[in-house]
Amino acid sequence: MSSKSDRTQQGLERALSLEIARVTERAAVAAARLRGRGAVKESDQVAVDAMRRELSSLPIDGTVVIGEGEMDEAPMLYIGEKVGTKRGPKVDIAVDPLEGTTLCAKNMPGAIATLAVAEDGTLLHAPDIYMDKIAIGPGYPKGVVDLDAPADDNIRKLAKAKGVKPDEITAMILDRPRHADLIAAVRKAGAAVSLITDGDVAGVIHTADPDKTGIDIYLGIGGAPEGVLAAAALRCIGGQMQTRLIVDTDDKRERVAKMGITDPRRKYEIEDMVRGDCLFAATGVTDGRMLRGVRFAKDMIETETVVMRSASATVRWIRAEHRELDKFS
Ligand code: FBP
Repeated sequence: MSSKSDRTQQGLERALSLEIARVTERAAVAAARLRGRGAVKESDQVAVDAMRRELSSLPIDGTVVIGEGEMDEAPMLYIGEKVGTKRGPKVDIAVDPLEGTTLCAKNMPGAIATLAVAEDGTLLHAPDIYMDKIAIGPGYPKGVVDLDAPADDNIRKLAKAKGVKPDEITAMILDRPRHADLIAAVRKAGAAVSLITDGDVAGVIHTADPDKTGIDIYLGIGGAPEGVLAAAALRCIGGQMQTRLIVDTDDKRERVAKMGITDPRRKYEIEDMVRGDCLFAATGVTDGRMLRGVRFAKDMIETETVVMRSASATVRWIRAEHRELDKFS
């Protein structure tokens, strides 16, 4: 007889393996219509609306655990919101309908619509606070880099494990004043720094394919929800990631406790953030290193989506041509 986890897994596969691409496609197209309009809130809102609409027809009994905010502050896709038709597997959902709202508003590279689906009760419930992150791609011995080690140590150890000199390593870091010392330390160790203005879900994922992206390591502080989404992707494609929530006020301590986290100083590995089987999807809104943005033609809309599945470590790149344009209005 199959176990509950087997049955959930079969359900996950049957119902969702490609269908989740539709969810991120719809959100990406909605946001892409507002690219370059300076409309940060509006582009996020249309992506949220589109994603929520599409989620409502998915054959799942889903609960949003990483969403647009805590229940009292987000009207849609709030943490705890139930989504799906209820006729399907019980799953946890992590969403970021528009990751890189400013990138979209300014029509800069790297905005994506993204979503992860995992077995019920297996995703870390993280409030929207900051999280310290370090990530590298697959193929390295476990523990070669460590969140608590000095940046120069991590660069040297990673270079050694890769069989190159530190000056052949490139670290991706969010361009923020809070990272000034980190950036200086990485450069001092000899590595190059590739700065991004936003979008650390993709930033972390870049480390999984350094030959293509040129990024060996991701470092620095970004959003905790984005951290969990990135962990879901790495759970599918391999790699190492460690994180720690930044809980530096009483309000944050309270919010973290409300999510059921008893040790706010805990260092998380991928398996602590995404404990079971999962699926991850992302669709490009604007062109980026990872995904092409949405293209609008006269009779067609083109999207590019990546869908990953942890059970088989499959990564599917889906270039879609959508001709039923009324579905996207
Ligand atoms: P939004 O799409 O919510 O604007 O997030 C973009 C982002 O760059 C994330 O990728 C990152 O985790 C976070 O913001 C960093 O936060 P901050 O802009 O406060 O440094």
